[in-house]
Amino acid sequence: MLDIFFNRRSTRKFLKRKIEESIIKKLLTAALLAPSSKGSRPWEFIIVDNPALLATLASSKPHGASLLRHAPLAIIIAGDKTKSDVWVEDCSIASIFVQLEAEALGLGSCWVQINRRYFNDEITSNEYIHEHFNIPERLEVLSVVGIGYKAVERPPLSDCDVLWDKVSINRYKSPSEFRIPKECE
Ligand SMILES: Cc1cc2nc3c(=O)[nH]c(=O)nc-3n(C[C@H](O)[C@H](O)[C@H](O)COP(=O)(O)O)c2cc1C
Repeated sequence: MLDIFFNRRSTRKFLKRKIEESIIKKLLTAALLAPSSKGSRPWEFIIVDNPALLATLASSKPHGASLLRHAPLAIIIAGDKTKSDVWVEDCSIASIFVQLEAEALGLGSCWVQINRRYFNDEITSNEYIHEHFNIPERLEVLSVVGIGYKAVERPPLSDCDVLWDKVSINRYKSPSEFRIPKECE
């Protein structure tokens, strides 16, 4: 698992290559196995592979969504707010499960934040996506994960990215045996 965690980097440039049905099924299997508060499983997933609809998703906010325009696949991850008061957490876990499974399958992915983001001054990104994808009111869109074969291989995270100074033992900021390696200082 740690290898996957080190190697997973956000991918924003994808090959044109289509993602096989069997791979898509594995990505969704990972999402559907995500833990959720009280086992409420409030999430729902919409697979998008239609180029015009991918372009619509890419316009859902002014910055940070354009990578979806050229992604071969996107998964809209939405939570049922009537089923869980912590749908944000539940959908976040499902989002990262998809990303980690993508990495394990040799694909790249990027989380595009939708919750609390705006299409423009008046319309939220969530409202914009609801309108274009016919999503019922009870669902709130947390994220859209763009997925595809990587067009660029980014360097993996290294031991220097493991910020041990964020870890305390027993009491906040008590001295800990975990140290950032000297070569990273
Ligand atoms: C909650 C969350 C929201 C994010 N939103 C966006 C986004 O809207 N657009 C984007 O391009 N990347 C987004 N990212 C990806 C982060 O920018 C990225 O994970 C971070 O810069 C670390 O880089 P890495 O994933 O390559 O390790 C998001 C990541 C998380 C966890």
